[in-house]
Amino acid sequence: MKKNEKLYEGKAKIVYSTDDPELVIQFFKDDATAFDGIKKGQISGKGVANNLISCHLFSLLENNGIATHFIKKLSDNEMLVRRVKIIPVELVVRNVAAGSLCKRYGVPEGQVFSEPIVECYYKNDAFHDPAMNDDHIIRFNLANADELSTIKATALRINQILKEYFDSIGIILVDFKLEFGRYNDQILLADEISPDTCRFWEKGTNRKLDKDRFRFDLGEVKEAYTEMLCLMLKNRQRTK
Ligand code: TMP
Ligand code: ASP
Repeated sequence: MKKNEKLYEGKAKIVYSTDDPELVIQFFKDDATAFDGIKKGQISGKGVANNLISCHLFSLLENNGIATHFIKKLSDNEMLVRRVKIIPVELVVRNVAAGSLCKRYGVPEGQVFSEPIVECYYKNDAFHDPAMNDDHIIRFNLANADELSTIKATALRINQILKEYFDSIGIILVDFKLEFGRYNDQILLADEISPDTCRFWEKGTNRKLDKDRFRFDLGEVKEAYTEMLCLMLKNRQRTK
């Protein structure tokens, strides 16, 4: 598949057009940012790890009946995906208290919820991705009520699939962020699913194996990304 012009460059990825107007290439960069772009850095090998991890997880989800933008892996740091129109609402699903939730509500890190918490944020850098409720999303015409209920139900189904999968390879899926896009009359899971967009803790020790190592200068950042990738590749047969 021929890579044509750059369509969009974000903090961690670049999107290129192809000869097919329906398809684009996602290139995963080693660049890392945190806290709304205030902290910047490079994590060598992150692009490859995030691409390969995302390819693996999109395939797992497709095999479990979730419609995604994923078509195929093109190279170690590129995947071919359907060209969707991103819905500017980020869905965060939380199984265990961590990150901004602890800061906002004073809930202790590590508190396990009996059922997941779903939150929505406005995907808008200029306004620092503020939290939104269903009324905001519907009144601002970001998504209609049917679309929103589909997206939320899909996010919960994805949580079930991923939580079970990560549990089977010794990882606690603490929380994660999803983005969805419109494609013809369908809504597809889009973007990426990686240690940049999820919190992964090692079962038994709660050792962090995700971007929190970069956010909070915990060291062994690139090792954590590689460790997650190796763990998933070692257990590859589970997704087949
Ligand atoms: P938070 O606790 O900082 O709100 O993050 C919740 C989850 O969302 C966590 O797994 C990291 C992910 N996330 C992103 O993917 N992008 C972001 O910009 C932020 C703030 C969080
Ligand atoms: N991705 C966001 C940023 O670049 C925040 C984060 O992941 O912590 O600032």
